[in-house]
Amino acid sequence: MKISDAMVSAINDQIKAEFDSAYIYLAMSAYFKDAGLDGMAHWMKKQYTEEVEHAEKFIAYLYERGARVIIPDVAKPKESYTDALEAFKAAYAHEQYVTSRIYKLVDLAISEKDYATQSMLKWYVDEQMEEEDNTSSIVAKLEYLGGDKHGTYIVDRELASR
Ligand SMILES: [Fe+2]
Ligand SMILES: [Fe+2]
Repeated sequence: MKISDAMVSAINDQIKAEFDSAYIYLAMSAYFKDAGLDGMAHWMKKQYTEEVEHAEKFIAYLYERGARVIIPDVAKPKESYTDALEAFKAAYAHEQYVTSRIYKLVDLAISEKDYATQSMLKWYVDEQMEEEDNTSSIVAKLEYLGGDKHGTYIVDRELASR
Protein backbone atom coordinates (compact mmCIF):
# COMPACT_ATOMS: atom_id res chain seq x y z
CA MET A 1 0.00 0.00 0.00
CA LYS A 2 1.33 3.39 -0.97
CA ILE A 3 2.15 5.85 1.80
CA SER A 4 -0.01 9.01 1.64
CA ASP A 5 1.36 12.44 0.72
CA ALA A 6 0.12 13.78 4.07
CA MET A 7 2.07 11.10 5.95
CA VAL A 8 5.24 11.73 3.90
CA SER A 9 4.96 15.44 4.60
CA ALA A 10 4.38 14.87 8.33
CA ILE A 11 7.42 12.56 8.55
CA ASN A 12 9.56 15.10 6.67
CA ASP A 13 8.47 17.71 9.24
CA GLN A 14 9.51 15.31 11.99
CA ILE A 15 12.92 14.83 10.33
CA LYS A 16 13.37 18.58 10.73
CA ALA A 17 12.25 18.39 14.37
CA GLU A 18 14.87 15.67 15.03
CA PHE A 19 17.66 17.74 13.45
CA ASP A 20 16.47 20.80 15.42
CA SER A 21 16.65 18.66 18.58
CA ALA A 22 20.18 17.56 17.67
CA TYR A 23 21.25 21.20 17.32
CA ILE A 24 19.61 22.23 20.60
CA TYR A 25 21.64 19.55 22.41
CA LEU A 26 24.85 20.34 20.54
CA ALA A 27 24.44 23.98 21.64
CA MET A 28 23.79 22.83 25.23
CA SER A 29 26.96 20.72 24.98
CA ALA A 30 28.94 23.80 23.91
CA TYR A 31 27.39 25.80 26.77
CA PHE A 32 28.41 23.15 29.34
CA LYS A 33 31.90 22.85 27.86
CA ASP A 34 32.32 26.59 28.29
CA ALA A 35 31.04 26.38 31.87
CA GLY A 36 33.67 23.71 32.70
CA LEU A 37 31.02 21.01 33.14
CA ASP A 38 32.65 18.40 30.90
CA GLY A 39 30.44 15.50 32.01
CA MET A 40 27.26 17.38 31.07
CA ALA A 41 28.90 18.48 27.80
CA HIS A 42 29.62 14.81 27.07
CA TRP A 43 26.05 13.77 27.95
CA MET A 44 24.58 16.40 25.63
CA LYS A 45 26.98 15.47 22.82
CA LYS A 46 25.73 11.87 23.09
CA GLN A 47 22.16 13.18 22.98
CA TYR A 48 23.00 15.15 19.85
CA THR A 49 24.24 11.93 18.20
CA GLU A 50 21.05 10.11 19.22
CA GLU A 51 18.84 12.80 17.70
CA VAL A 52 20.75 12.60 14.40
CA GLU A 53 20.12 8.84 14.50
CA HIS A 54 16.39 9.48 15.04
CA ALA A 55 16.35 11.69 11.92
CA GLU A 56 18.29 9.07 9.95
CA LYS A 57 15.88 6.34 11.01
CA PHE A 58 12.94 8.37 9.63
CA ILE A 59 14.92 9.04 6.42
CA ALA A 60 15.58 5.31 5.98
CA TYR A 61 11.87 4.60 6.54
CA LEU A 62 10.79 7.06 3.83
CA TYR A 63 13.30 5.51 1.43
CA GLU A 64 11.87 2.10 2.25
CA ARG A 65 8.39 3.37 1.40
CA GLY A 66 9.66 4.83 -1.89
CA ALA A 67 8.95 8.39 -0.70
CA ARG A 68 10.85 11.62 -1.28
CA VAL A 69 13.01 12.88 1.58
CA ILE A 70 13.49 16.62 1.99
CA ILE A 71 16.65 17.55 3.93
CA PRO A 72 15.57 20.54 6.06
CA ASP A 73 17.25 23.68 7.25
CA VAL A 74 17.97 23.69 10.97
CA ALA A 75 16.78 26.31 13.45
CA LYS A 76 19.41 28.31 15.32
CA PRO A 77 19.44 26.94 18.88
CA LYS A 78 19.52 28.94 22.11
CA GLU A 79 23.15 29.63 23.04
CA SER A 80 23.22 29.99 26.79
CA TYR A 81 21.43 29.18 30.01
CA THR A 82 21.41 30.51 33.57
CA ASP A 83 22.70 27.23 34.97
CA ALA A 84 22.66 23.45 34.52
CA LEU A 85 19.16 23.19 36.00
CA GLU A 86 17.70 25.63 33.47
CA ALA A 87 19.36 23.75 30.59
CA PHE A 88 18.12 20.32 31.71
CA LYS A 89 14.64 21.73 32.38
CA ALA A 90 14.65 23.02 28.79
CA ALA A 91 15.80 19.59 27.56
CA TYR A 92 12.97 17.88 29.48
CA ALA A 93 10.38 20.35 28.16
CA HIS A 94 11.71 19.83 24.65
CA GLU A 95 11.40 16.04 24.95
CA GLN A 96 7.78 16.45 26.11
CA TYR A 97 7.15 18.59 23.04
CA VAL A 98 8.71 15.95 20.76
CA THR A 99 6.59 13.25 22.41
CA SER A 100 3.45 15.25 21.58
CA ARG A 101 4.64 15.44 17.96
CA ILE A 102 5.23 11.68 17.80
CA TYR A 103 1.72 11.08 19.24
CA LYS A 104 0.26 13.28 16.47
CA LEU A 105 2.08 11.16 13.89
CA VAL A 106 0.59 8.05 15.49
CA ASP A 107 -2.88 9.67 15.35
CA LEU A 108 -2.41 10.38 11.65
CA ALA A 109 -1.15 6.85 10.93
CA ILE A 110 -4.18 5.42 12.77
CA SER A 111 -6.63 7.67 10.92
CA GLU A 112 -5.12 6.58 7.60
CA LYS A 113 -5.04 2.89 8.58
CA ASP A 114 -1.32 3.03 7.76
CA TYR A 115 -0.27 -0.02 9.79
CA ALA A 116 3.35 0.00 8.57
CA THR A 117 3.87 3.55 9.85
CA GLN A 118 2.11 2.72 13.12
CA SER A 119 4.51 -0.18 13.62
CA MET A 120 7.56 1.97 12.80
CA LEU A 121 6.40 4.69 15.22
CA LYS A 122 6.18 2.26 18.13
CA TRP A 123 9.98 2.51 18.45
CA TYR A 124 9.73 6.31 18.78
CA VAL A 125 6.96 6.10 21.38
CA ASP A 126 9.20 3.89 23.54
CA GLU A 127 12.26 6.05 22.88
CA GLN A 128 10.40 9.22 23.94
CA MET A 129 9.32 7.60 27.21
CA GLU A 130 12.97 6.79 27.91
CA GLU A 131 14.24 10.26 26.97
CA GLU A 132 11.63 11.98 29.16
CA ASP A 133 12.63 9.70 32.02
CA ASN A 134 16.37 10.42 31.53
CA THR A 135 16.00 14.20 31.39
CA SER A 136 13.41 14.47 34.17
CA SER A 137 15.54 12.42 36.57
CA ILE A 138 18.51 14.75 35.98
CA VAL A 139 16.21 17.75 36.58
CA ALA A 140 15.07 16.15 39.86
CA LYS A 141 18.68 15.69 41.03
CA LEU A 142 19.66 19.26 40.17
CA GLU A 143 16.51 20.62 41.82
CA TYR A 144 17.35 18.68 44.97
CA LEU A 145 20.84 20.21 44.99
CA GLY A 146 19.40 23.72 44.65
CA GLY A 147 22.52 25.10 42.95
CA ASP A 148 25.01 23.51 45.37
CA LYS A 149 28.34 23.55 43.50
CA HIS A 150 29.86 20.47 45.10
CA GLY A 151 26.73 18.45 44.33
CA THR A 152 26.60 19.74 40.76
CA TYR A 153 30.22 18.62 40.34
CA ILE A 154 29.27 15.11 41.45
CA VAL A 155 26.31 14.97 39.01
CA ASP A 156 28.66 16.25 36.28
CA ARG A 157 31.07 13.39 36.94
CA GLU A 158 28.22 10.90 36.95
CA LEU A 159 26.99 12.13 33.54
CA ALA A 160 30.49 11.71 32.10
CA SER A 161 29.96 7.94 32.09
CA ARG A 162 27.03 7.95 29.68
FE1 LIG B 1 14.47 12.37 18.86
FE1 LIG C 1 14.97 13.28 21.99
